[in-house]
Amino acid sequence: MTLQVLQISDCHLTDPGETFLGADTQQSLQAVLAAALRQHQPDAIIASGDIAQKPAPATYRRFLATVRKQATAPLLCLPGNHDFLGAMQAADLPMQSIDLVDTEVIWRLVALDSHEDNKPSAVVTTADLAGLRESLTGARWQYALLATHHPMVATSRWQDRDMITDAQWWLNDLQVHCQHRLRGIVCGHVHQALTGRVADLPHWTTPSTCVQFRSNSEKFAVDSKAPGYRWLTLHTDGEIETSSHYLSD
Ligand SMILES: [Fe+2]
Repeated sequence: MTLQVLQISDCHLTDPGETFLGADTQQSLQAVLAAALRQHQPDAIIASGDIAQKPAPATYRRFLATVRKQATAPLLCLPGNHDFLGAMQAADLPMQSIDLVDTEVIWRLVALDSHEDNKPSAVVTTADLAGLRESLTGARWQYALLATHHPMVATSRWQDRDMITDAQWWLNDLQVHCQHRLRGIVCGHVHQALTGRVADLPHWTTPSTCVQFRSNSEKFAVDSKAPGYRWLTLHTDGEIETSSHYLSD
């Protein structure tokens, strides 16, 4: 058997009637969920930050209601640079690790908060890392997938100033701590699908559910690609297969 994890990212939900870079982000989130769920039923959903462009509790409640209208799978949300953590908590967004059981194997989905309210670039504190280390302790589970908002690999020049720059150092230490059971990293923020490696781990960035940014751009540029998402298939031997999709598919 395998586990299917749906990653949605950078939904940038606005107030009703408003748009983000010309997109009706509520409508495109609904369309992304509908398209993804026609492919698979997810065992879990990861929402990797920038859930709201208008970071108010009402926006997060609407996000939760939108997801719940289409899927009942466990949900792991984490904040991005456009989010306010307090508002996410006020809306009761689920932000705890998820253990997914597949016959005799448990995959743990964990999040690292790389955001600080009102700061575009990544901020990973000692407390954030201590929390992550704690999440990756114990013998109950066999493999883990880590989700963050900001990338740990270079993507586009104008976005590289926002990345988590020192990840390879603490990831190596974390891998020793958890006996190399961490098997991959997913993130959002860059509004495009890329595959990289950090500290010997596969690292995937994921398209936005609304507007994409142009790859390899020197400066901010919007791409014409449609809203997107990512599927991750978690195998019982610790392997991860993954693919990104766009509504035009
Ligand atoms: Fe974003």
